[in-house]
Amino acid sequence: MELEELKKEIESKNLPLAENNLVFGKGNPKAKILFIGEAPGAKEDELGVPFVGSAGKELDKLLNSINLDLDDVYIANILKYRPPNNRNPSIEEIKSHTPFLIKQISIINPKIICTLGNYATKFVLSGFEVLGMNKIEGISKLHGKPKNIVLAGSPRIVIPLYHPASMLYNPGLRKVLELDFKVISSFL
Ligand code: URA
Repeated sequence: MELEELKKEIESKNLPLAENNLVFGKGNPKAKILFIGEAPGAKEDELGVPFVGSAGKELDKLLNSINLDLDDVYIANILKYRPPNNRNPSIEEIKSHTPFLIKQISIINPKIICTLGNYATKFVLSGFEVLGMNKIEGISKLHGKPKNIVLAGSPRIVIPLYHPASMLYNPGLRKVLELDFKVISSFL
């Protein structure tokens, strides 16, 4: 299977942060909806699976709120390995890890891409141009507003969303995320 080959390719590369465990992706490789997060945390690094910690539990609940689960979506991250102490990804790390995210997107070929938080949103809306990311507005301006753009050779609907971890430190964002998830269901 193509995703398995891609996983092996990443493992053969010794990318920055590769001293940690590879966190590649989870869900249905044939899904029409792809979620992109930022980077693995401690739990994800331990298990080698994205969104299995506290943010992942919130993401599961949000998916369930629109009658979706892991059979309906695929979930991946900008960074394929955990940065130390969960610090923000560096430009160099984004540059070296995202070519593999782009290959993942080409293989899965989703109609809808939901970006979780600033890093994923800026990377995707810049048209995968790492150096153009700083020209993209922040998630507080863009969340819940779908955009039609051509990415990896096909037209796609991009739906920027707050990162589910954000509502753990800002409970007011829970309602915003719940409403923005309804935007996803309007395309299903
Ligand atoms: N946050 C992310 O952005 N990705 C994960 O896999 C876990 C937490």
